[in-house]
Amino acid sequence: MPTDLTVVVLAAGGGTRMRSKTPKVLHELAGRSMVGHVLAAVQDLEPRRVVAVVGHQRELVGPHVEELLPGVVLAVQEEQLGTGHAMAMAMAAAGRTSGTVVVACGDTPLLAGDSLRAFAAEHEAAQRAVSILSGVVEDPFGYGRIVRDAEGDVVAIVEEKDADADQRELREINSGIYALDAAFLAEALPRIGNDNAKGEYYLTDVVHLAREAGLTVGAHVLDDVRQTEGVNDRAQLAVLGAELNRRILDRWMREGVTVMDPATTWVDADVVLAPDVTLLPGTQLLGVTVVAEDAVVGPDTTLKDCEVGAGARVVRTHGELAVIGAGATVGPFSYLRPGTQLGAEGKIGAFVETKNAQIGAGGKVPHLSYVGDAEIGEGTNIGAGTIFANYDGVNKHRTTVGRHARTGSNNTFVAPVAIGDGASTAGGTVVRRDVPPGALAVSSGAQRNIPGWAQTRRSGTAQAAAAEAAGGARPAGGDASHNGGPGVGDAG
Ligand code: UD1
Ligand code: CA
Repeated sequence: MPTDLTVVVLAAGGGTRMRSKTPKVLHELAGRSMVGHVLAAVQDLEPRRVVAVVGHQRELVGPHVEELLPGVVLAVQEEQLGTGHAMAMAMAAAGRTSGTVVVACGDTPLLAGDSLRAFAAEHEAAQRAVSILSGVVEDPFGYGRIVRDAEGDVVAIVEEKDADADQRELREINSGIYALDAAFLAEALPRIGNDNAKGEYYLTDVVHLAREAGLTVGAHVLDDVRQTEGVNDRAQLAVLGAELNRRILDRWMREGVTVMDPATTWVDADVVLAPDVTLLPGTQLLGVTVVAEDAVVGPDTTLKDCEVGAGARVVRTHGELAVIGAGATVGPFSYLRPGTQLGAEGKIGAFVETKNAQIGAGGKVPHLSYVGDAEIGEGTNIGAGTIFANYDGVNKHRTTVGRHARTGSNNTFVAPVAIGDGASTAGGTVVRRDVPPGALAVSSGAQRNIPGWAQTRRSGTAQAAAAEAAGGARPAGGDASHNGGPGVGDAG
């Protein structure tokens, strides 16, 4: 590995073909910006310094790069006059430079750190002034072509617009990634002109400048050519995004993860999976999601920045910033919002939404509930159809339910309220006051049956006929329709 290494990342260009208000290099694949992928790869070179050239929308690109790589040197290129000009700005910002300068572009998201390391090592071992990372592609249109002489030595890089018919046939292309001798570069940069088809300062001119000075130039052909591919538009973004995903899944499968359907499974670059995790079709693991061994996720599940414990089962779920304990089960059709923490062996079942809710080990919210701003103790079961009413229209309040409590179906817990350890609530309870440990809370009034109501108030209907046929008692004392008795709330 070179010991005195400066990396320059070129990221000043406009990216007009993206047709976006977002700068090209900030578009994301696998949960990271394009330039984020490049910065991660160049870190593998353990560079002494990294210079990023920013220009177009630098108010967005600059802070993003600084956040990802504190200590980066930002070089501002006000006008994008070409890659040669961009490098002049970079070297001015870098100050005194010696050793090797590696140049990368901010828009090659598949570039891998180990490829860069091998490239830089070869450059130094060969003692070249200029090394070019090249690739042989099917369709070289738009790229600079590597021109070699009869001995195979690189004599020039010719841009598409400057190439003659024969040169256009060449399929070895310049990836835009270089390793350069810093001392040579310092001398060469001021001598680059802009007398070419685009009127730009071409960094590629260093090839003939080196040769004129009698220095060595070489190109290193990278077999895995996709690593050098740049993104220019959204179609390429999708193609490279899918390819990157394929590579990420490939790596995890080799590490012992089962991916039933790679075509419908998406895993971000920063996700961590343990051996014997199983991912079922339609699963997206995003951000910094971590899944422990033997967990099964999917089908049709999206987890962003979540933690899934060993052996947990997560089915048809959408989760964000949630922690799922070991052996817990979630889903199908569950919505875990930020701050959800489900204890080991716990359960969040069908049509349950949780937010800022801590559920203890073995705690269960099995059906049709909203659990917001709540703490539920271990071993507690929450009845079907329970609403934790956390919002009074102005403020949010918390509900606590103790250990081993049993709450009935169709309850409403009006926060702030506390239900004690081992307490119960009856079905349909609206809990407005604290329930002491071990108590049973009942809030609905005693049930009254009004005999023969259907036969009098719904006479002539199928309902009344059914009641009559079943021998349902008639009301005592005549016509209930005029006695002011209660009706039902149906709207008919
Ligand atoms: C360049 C190369 C070409 C190579 C291709 C690979 C030159 C003259 N040509 O062409 O041989 O095949 O890359 O993609 O270098 N940039 C700046 N400031 C500028 C101009 C460009 O920072 O003034 C940055 C861009 O943001 C981009 C990179 O440099 O990251 C390459 O620029 P681009 O305009 O894409 O160069 P190409 O014309 O594609
Ligand atoms: Ca390009």
